[in-house]
Amino acid sequence: MEVAEVAAEMAATTLGNPEGRVLRRITKIKKILEADVGSWAGRRVLVGGWVKTGREQGKGSFAFLEVNDGSCLANLQVICEASTYPLAELVPTGTSVLVEGELKPPPEGVKQRIELKVDKVLEVGPVGEKYPLPKTRLTLENLRDFMHLRARTNTISAVARIRDELAHATHAFFRQNGFRYIHTPIITTSDCEGAGEMFQATVLFSQAEKLAKEIKENPLPTESDVEAAKLVVKEKGEIVAQLKSTKASKPEITAAVSELNKAKETASRLEERSKLTPGIPVKPDGGFSFDSDFFKKPAFLTVSGQLQVETYACAVGSVYTFGPTFRAENSHTSRHLAEFWMVEPEMAFATLEDDMDYAEEYVKFMCQWLLDNSREDMEFMVKNYDKTAIERLKLVASSPFARVSYTEAVEILMGVTDKKFENKVEWGIDLASEHERYLTEVIFKKPVIVYNYPKGIKAFYMRLNDDQKTVAAMDVLVPKVGELVGGSQREERLDILKQRILDADLPLEIYEWYLDLRRYGTVKHSGFGLGFERMILFATGLDNIRDVIPFPRYPGRADL
Ligand code: 4AD
Ligand code: MG
Repeated sequence: MEVAEVAAEMAATTLGNPEGRVLRRITKIKKILEADVGSWAGRRVLVGGWVKTGREQGKGSFAFLEVNDGSCLANLQVICEASTYPLAELVPTGTSVLVEGELKPPPEGVKQRIELKVDKVLEVGPVGEKYPLPKTRLTLENLRDFMHLRARTNTISAVARIRDELAHATHAFFRQNGFRYIHTPIITTSDCEGAGEMFQATVLFSQAEKLAKEIKENPLPTESDVEAAKLVVKEKGEIVAQLKSTKASKPEITAAVSELNKAKETASRLEERSKLTPGIPVKPDGGFSFDSDFFKKPAFLTVSGQLQVETYACAVGSVYTFGPTFRAENSHTSRHLAEFWMVEPEMAFATLEDDMDYAEEYVKFMCQWLLDNSREDMEFMVKNYDKTAIERLKLVASSPFARVSYTEAVEILMGVTDKKFENKVEWGIDLASEHERYLTEVIFKKPVIVYNYPKGIKAFYMRLNDDQKTVAAMDVLVPKVGELVGGSQREERLDILKQRILDADLPLEIYEWYLDLRRYGTVKHSGFGLGFERMILFATGLDNIRDVIPFPRYPGRADL
């Protein structure tokens, strides 16, 4: 069979045009290694990837290359004869190769399943100098200094595939349950959590910088420059008046008037420019003025798409948003990022109970999805990072989560004698990570949903319970990570919501549109937010959230 035919047959994603020409000619290594050796031996394929390790053999007559194309963890063993290409240029780690050849079963007793005997080396991306990643394994922390190359390592590429699977699982789950995917804005003028941890989106600084540079090249006119220009206007005016009174000819008067107009224009331009003040514009009361800013008012990067997605839940029913969110909190922990992705479903006609049911089902669905679709990468995690990772997925996928009220959780924690918490436990505190992990890891030994939190520690939009002390909030806590999901039933009663906004010291004007949802056809509704990177941490068992997002942003670091 020819290369194109094999590729067409094997690549599930083969693209074709009306003439039937196969566009995607490359066969992924995953397909080759998954296939049955018997049916593959003898086939011709085109493979492209990066050399993991290469060595010349047989006195330089051929080379073995371990090639990885990122489609799976495993490498394909590729054999190149010296006649096909200068071998010394193929063997350095990191070299890219596009090669064509025939698949062969390996010799008896060799562990590779199948290997590629190359007869054409079509393209090579050489490694001219020393490859920046050392041969010895770097710690994940050190790897963060190679943000642009770390995807070529086994761990980071495995995480990338797991992350991709979880994104697919997310869309599959919500689609199966009749949800619509809504794109909420990244730039917003509302602070969803009301916690004031927003990054500002402004052009005031770049405007100020541009002005400062321009002024340096072309200094602002002084007062006397403006006076002089005004004097010229006066003189030109007098000339016009004189010409008119002496009944001069029309062309003469017209020319003088035109001169006068030019002088007026120059003077007003100078005056305008003399008023420019370098720096960020300030209002008389001392606050910044946003009149000249891009949106003419303060705007920010969103901390959550919830408020906006609620507008769609109150029209389309069951919806979700899944996008990047931003928090300018100065957290240096292994579970916080300044930019992270959040999955936020929102359901009309749903109570806190429904919310908890959906959160539990969704997390279980993702665990099962990884068991079904990411076996090789999960086994890699078990071998290298967390022996219990697969067991944990199985357990979570198959057993119900525990559910306790906040009040019960606090009672349990106050009764703990075998551990001294750094943060004192009493009713009303915001549970710290140590408390959350103790509940899920030690007490329940599985995910636990804590619900009905004190209103004082939760956001304004959560529904006030009849006890007037707690709100219909819930957090899903999981082993290794602590808080994975935060959600609530939303306050659908206009008056109470207004009061909660005021109690939170937030300005009502900004939330008028949100209040409108309660004024016109209000509905009981609920939703939650799942921290996507926390889910990946939980699944893989890796320790640091900075290693499960391609380009982590945290205090002091925003590489690339
Ligand atoms: O609990 P949070 O703050 O909830 C909300 O933002 C709601 N508006 C969600 C909703 O009801 N639609 O955040 C939700 C989740 C947390 O449980 C946590 O998993 C994750 O987002 N999260 C973070 N992940 C990484 N880095 C951070 N700085 C995070 N802050 C929250
Ligand atoms: Mg939370």
